Amino acid sequence: MIYELSNPVTKTLVTHLRDQRRDAIRFRHTVAELTKQLVYEALKDFPLIEKEIVPWQGDGIFSTIDEENIVVVTVLRAGLPMLDSVMELLPNAVAGFLAMKRDETTHESKLYYDRLPDCKGKNILLVDPMVATGGSMNDALELIKTKKPKRIIALNIIGSPEGLEAVSSAHKDVDIYIAQIDERLDENKYIIPGLGDAGDRAYNTLE
Ligand code: PRP
Ligand code: URA
Repeated sequence: MIYELSNPVTKTLVTHLRDQRRDAIRFRHTVAELTKQLVYEALKDFPLIEKEIVPWQGDGIFSTIDEENIVVVTVLRAGLPMLDSVMELLPNAVAGFLAMKRDETTHESKLYYDRLPDCKGKNILLVDPMVATGGSMNDALELIKTKKPKRIIALNIIGSPEGLEAVSSAHKDVDIYIAQIDERLDENKYIIPGLGDAGDRAYNTLE
């Protein structure tokens, strides 16, 4: 299933991101804020476990998400601010890294780094701001599935209808939470209106 956030604050932050004048530090900060909104929505019905902690008064068993059973997988580079944001909310989660680069001629993604931790039986949060053709997400999902996770939830900021259809039809078992679904892809497979190249904007490599 695809869940698009509808909160006016979400729309406002996405509009900030689209603005070319948003510099790299504010771009990453806004991506991080949107990621927190996606996490709250995606985990709103997540099961809680009881955990013993040392409270200020007496003994205590309290409810918590089983953070250690969550693996947050990011797709470099543009996914990095999203990973940092999830790890701020769930500091005991485990982080995994994939690096992919879209070939800007063929528009196909190429994996060049894989540092996935043990995913067996774990809940995976896969974070990447952009779903353009959906190629990067599909490759990442295929790779993660070889590691036998329990469940995968994707968190994305912006996607094209074409890319989201490609991902959701190939991976019907994956829930996708996205801040905004845009209009379409252009002839270079960029999202319209989109926000440009998210990796370049986040890390000052725009030419
Ligand atoms: C961007 C983005 C996705 C991918 C989406 O990464 O972060 O991973 O493009 O495109 P797709 O749906 O057509 O595969 P990019 O390849 O530009 O790398 P970067 O994050 O290093 O800039
Ligand atoms: N990658 C991006 O960062 N933006 C797009 O519009 C397409 C791919």
